[in-house]
Amino acid sequence: MAILTLFSVAGAPGTTTTALALALAWPRDVLLVDADPTASAPILAGYLRGFTPHDKSLVDLAIAQRHGELADTLPAVTLPIPDSHVNLLPGIQTPGQASAVEGLWPDLLPILAGLDAGGTDVIIDAGRLGASHAPTAAIRAADLSLLVTRSTLPAIIAARAWLPTIETIVADQTGFGLAIVGVGHPHTAGEITGVLKTPILATLAMDPVTAEVFSLGLDPTRHFNPKHFNNSALVRSVRAAAGSLQQTAKARRDHLNAAIEETDPR
Ligand SMILES: Nc1ncnc2c1ncn2[C@@H]1O[C@H](COP(=O)(O)OP(=O)(O)O)[C@@H](O)[C@H]1O
Ligand SMILES: [Mg+2]
Repeated sequence: MAILTLFSVAGAPGTTTTALALALAWPRDVLLVDADPTASAPILAGYLRGFTPHDKSLVDLAIAQRHGELADTLPAVTLPIPDSHVNLLPGIQTPGQASAVEGLWPDLLPILAGLDAGGTDVIIDAGRLGASHAPTAAIRAADLSLLVTRSTLPAIIAARAWLPTIETIVADQTGFGLAIVGVGHPHTAGEITGVLKTPILATLAMDPVTAEVFSLGLDPTRHFNPKHFNNSALVRSVRAAAGSLQQTAKARRDHLNAAIEETDPR
């Protein structure tokens, strides 16, 4: 897979929740990158509830970049998410840092793509498009980029308004599609693709209580029996989405390799 980027265009549809839940359900090791330029520490303060002190972030990488030490510094700024195969690269801590980090992406993205060879995929939470210093390079460089949206009319209208802009951001090699949070609440997949003419690559169940395990660090063993959590509508939909995203990425890669072989049959 290499790089999967998630972003939104309006409201708070569940971009961070989906990125984290996908990372935790992903079959390979994951580096989860908080690239949201709005400085919200959603995972350190949310899922990890502030219990995991960590003062390193993308800003330290921006400093390392100036000294030509980006690749060597990367492992030192990440922290493992307990009981998982996910490492977190935290984002900026104050809005003023957003501009300092913007110039990082052209050098950092190839390093992130290279982690694939060592068995690690990268999931990037790019926050909301339209925010100042939004990391559009991380949307373009991804193998798959997902516009996370709800299925409500305001959300669909916002997505339609942004699609022409998104088309100028994604490149030919970027697989682009939608991740719908709450398909059927109220609009169906068919209704959404009918309007947006964009493939739906992932659907996430509308499940507010389970979502708060990921977004606020609600303790699943206190609020659910563990079996119920693993069988919850959201966790089941995330598992299915992780599987189908992997398949989509593989199909795209096979297609690309076949095209290369046809044009250059050495
Ligand atoms: N699949 C879901 N079902 C119900 N509520 C969700 C779902 N995903 C996220 N949420 C809730 O939506 C709110 C915003 O989620 P968040 O991930 O912070 O959005 P964003 O990153 O797009 O701003 C949170 O209260 C979260 O618990
Ligand atoms: Mg977010």
